[in-house]
Amino acid sequence: MYSKTLTAFTMATQLLARALAQDWESAYSKAQSALGRLTLSDKVGIVTGVGWNPGGECVGNTHPVGSIGYPSLCLQDGPLGVRYASSITAFTPGVQAASTWDLDLIRQRGQYIGEEFRGTGAHVMLGPVAGGLGKIAEGGRNWEGFSPDPYLTGIMVAETIDAVQGVGVQTAVKHYILNEQELNRETMSSNPDNRTTHELYLWPYVDAIHAESSSVMCSYNKIHGVWACESDFAINTLLKDRLGFKGYVMTDWAAQHSTALSANAGLDMTMPGSNWDGGDVYWGPQLQTAVTNGQVPESRVDDMVTRILAAWYRLGQDSDYPSVNFDADVAGNHAENVRACARDGTVLLRNEDGILPLTNPSTIAVIGSSSVIGRHARNQCQDGGCNDGALGMGWGSGAVDYPYFVAPYDAIDERASAEGARVVLSSSDNTASGASAARGADVAVVFITADSGEGYLEVEGNRGDRNNLDPWHGGNALVEAVANANENVIVVVHSVGPIILESILSHDSVKGIVWAGLPSQESGNALVDILWGDANPSGKLVYTIAKQRGDYGTQVVSGNDDYDEGLYIDYRHFDNAGIEPRYEFGFGLSYTTFEYGNITIEAVRPIAPGSATGEVISGGPSGLFEDVATVSVPITNTGEVDGAEVAQLYLSYPPSAPATPPLQLRGFDKVRLAAGESGTATFTLRWRDLSYWDTASDTWVVPSGSFGISVGASSRDIKQEGTIEV
Ligand SMILES: *[C@@H]1O[C@H](CO)[C@@H](O)[C@H](O)[C@H]1NC(C)=O
Ligand SMILES: *[C@@H]1O[C@H](CO)[C@@H](O)[C@H](O)[C@H]1NC(C)=O
Repeated sequence: MYSKTLTAFTMATQLLARALAQDWESAYSKAQSALGRLTLSDKVGIVTGVGWNPGGECVGNTHPVGSIGYPSLCLQDGPLGVRYASSITAFTPGVQAASTWDLDLIRQRGQYIGEEFRGTGAHVMLGPVAGGLGKIAEGGRNWEGFSPDPYLTGIMVAETIDAVQGVGVQTAVKHYILNEQELNRETMSSNPDNRTTHELYLWPYVDAIHAESSSVMCSYNKIHGVWACESDFAINTLLKDRLGFKGYVMTDWAAQHSTALSANAGLDMTMPGSNWDGGDVYWGPQLQTAVTNGQVPESRVDDMVTRILAAWYRLGQDSDYPSVNFDADVAGNHAENVRACARDGTVLLRNEDGILPLTNPSTIAVIGSSSVIGRHARNQCQDGGCNDGALGMGWGSGAVDYPYFVAPYDAIDERASAEGARVVLSSSDNTASGASAARGADVAVVFITADSGEGYLEVEGNRGDRNNLDPWHGGNALVEAVANANENVIVVVHSVGPIILESILSHDSVKGIVWAGLPSQESGNALVDILWGDANPSGKLVYTIAKQRGDYGTQVVSGNDDYDEGLYIDYRHFDNAGIEPRYEFGFGLSYTTFEYGNITIEAVRPIAPGSATGEVISGGPSGLFEDVATVSVPITNTGEVDGAEVAQLYLSYPPSAPATPPLQLRGFDKVRLAAGESGTATFTLRWRDLSYWDTASDTWVVPSGSFGISVGASSRDIKQEGTIEV
C-alpha cells in the first residue's frame, strides 16, 4: 500500500525551513564579509545584468567579481526545463504536473529540472510560476503555472522550489504579482483590494518564501498605478516586511522603469541590463551616479548585494559549480518523470459503455492533424509563431525545445501492431477524410487541441491569450463528422486549459473523452498507457470546465483590471453564483471505483480566534505555519483493478467571517490502492488554512465559530462532512 500524507510533507517542510533559516544566517555573514572587499562599481556590477546572451547561452548574466570568486551569474528560462539547450528534457508544464496531484512526482520533477540546470551550469532557474494564477481561462501563460487554486499552486510551488534548490540551483519564483493576462501586460494596472491580493494572488508566494526561494521576479504590469518592479507596497511592504523574504527581487526582462525609485522600492537586480529589445538601462553607471548624488543610499545597494551573494553562498554555489555548457548531456532517465506526469495527469472525463480501456479492437481509426508530428513537435514553432501537429506545451519563453517527440499516432500504431490490430490514419483535420477513416473501424480516436502562450508571438490570430475557449483547427466539426460515421468515438484533448465541450458531448457516439492536457515529449507513450489500461487514469482537473464561456465571470480586459470578481474565481465563483459547471474542479474518472468511510477529525492543538502570532519567519508570522488539526478518511478500492484516488478537503468558514467562497481547497491526498485494498487519506490543516485576511488590522485572522470540513472526490462530489469549532 502506498499513501502519501500531507502530515509528512508539512513536518518535512517545517524542519527544512528551520534548518534553512540558519543557512540564511551563515550565508548572510559570508555575504557581509565579501561585501567589505567590494568597490561601489563591483556592487553595481552584481546587481546589473550585462545583456541577453553575451556568451551565447544564458538569457541573463551579471558582472563577475574576481576578488571574491564571484562568477558571471547565469540566469536561464524556464519553468519546465533549460531553454535553448540541446541534450535536455522537455518536462511537462506546470498545469500537467499539477493535474497528477502527486507530490512524489512533483518533487521528482523539481529535482530532475534542478539537476539539468546545474548540469548546464545555470545558477538560477527562472521559475516556478506562482502566479499569474490563472483567474482568466484564456490567459496565455496559465499553462506555465499550476492551477487557479492558490492552495494547490502554493503546495506545488513549495515542493518544486524545495526540490530544485535541494540540488543547489536557485529559483526565481515569478511573475510577482497580479499579471493575469498577456494583452497589455506591459502597460495595464491591476487594482484588486487587499483581501483579494492576500487570499488569492499572494497566497502561493507565501509558500514560495516559506520554502526559501532565492529570488522573486517582479512582473511587467502596474499595481494600483505603480510598476510592479518599483512598487514599495508589493516589494518592501508585502514581500520583505510581511513575508520576511531574505532573498533578492529581480526584474522580468526589461520590466524596470526608473533608477532611484525602483532601488528604493526594494528592487535588487535588473535584467537583462543592456538595452535589450530597445529598452532603456536604468542601473549600471546610472545607479552609481544615483548613489553619488544621494538619491539612493549606498546601504540600499549593500542590501541588494548582500541578498544576492547570500542566496549564492546559501546553496553552496561558491564551490565546484559546473561552468556553463548548454551542450552538456543532462537528460539521464528524466523522461520517466515526463511520461509519469503525462500519464497520471491525464483526466478521464467521459467513459460510457466501458469504451475504455480498449478491449482488443481489430481496427482503430486515428484522426486529426495533432495525432502526428508537425512543426510544433519539430521545434519549429517556439519562436516562429506556428502551431501544427501534435501539441505538448504552449509557446513563448516558458517553452523549451523537445529532444524528441513521441506522437500519439506512432505510439498507438506500435501498440496496436503488437496486439494484432490495424490502424487507419487520417492525419489532417479534413472532415471528409476523418469520416472516411472512421467508417467501419471498431473505434475512432479523434485528436483536438487548444494552444496559447506568451504575447510577443501571435499564433493563428491569438496574441498570447486565447481568443475563445473553442478547440482549434475546427475540432468541433471534425468530431461531429467522425461521430456521424462511427458509433465508438474517443476524443483526446491536448489543451493549455479549459475548452467548451458542449458540441462534442452532444454526440451520443462520443463515448470517451480523454483530457490529456500538455504531455510534452512523452505524449504518445503516456496516452497508450491509459488507452490500453496499462495505467489507470488518476488525474483530476485543476480548473473548472464550464458549459459556456460567459460562466467564468472573468475575461481578458482591454484597459486596467479592477478585479471586481474579488475572491470569486474558478470554482469559487461557480459555487457562489450557483452555476453548474460541465466538469467541476477536482473531477476525474477512474477504471475502478472508490468508497469513502467515516471521517475522523482530530485537533493537534487548541485554536483560539484572532490574529496570527509569532515572529516573522520566511513566509510571515510563524504561527501561520503551525498544524492545528488532522482529518482522515478511509478509502477502499471497490473495483476490479488497481488505481489511485485523489481525495480532496474543502473548508467552509463560519458566519462570523466576512463573506467567503462556499468551499475552498485546503487539503488533498493521492492514495494508491490495489483492487479491494483499503487505505487512509490524511490531511493536515495549518493555522493559515483556517484564516482570512483582515483588512482593518492588516493581519491574518482565524474567525470564531464552526468551520465546515468537506472531503470528497471532487469539489462537487462530497462524500464526508464534519466540523471544527473555534
Ligand atoms: C492596502 O493596504 C495598505 C496598508 O497595508 C494601504 O495603504 C492600501 O491603501 C490598501 N490598498 C487598497 C487597495 O485598499
Ligand atoms: C459510520 O457512521 C455511521 C453514521 O454515523 C455509522 O452508522 C456507521 O456505523 C459508521 N461506520 C463505521 C465503519 O464506523
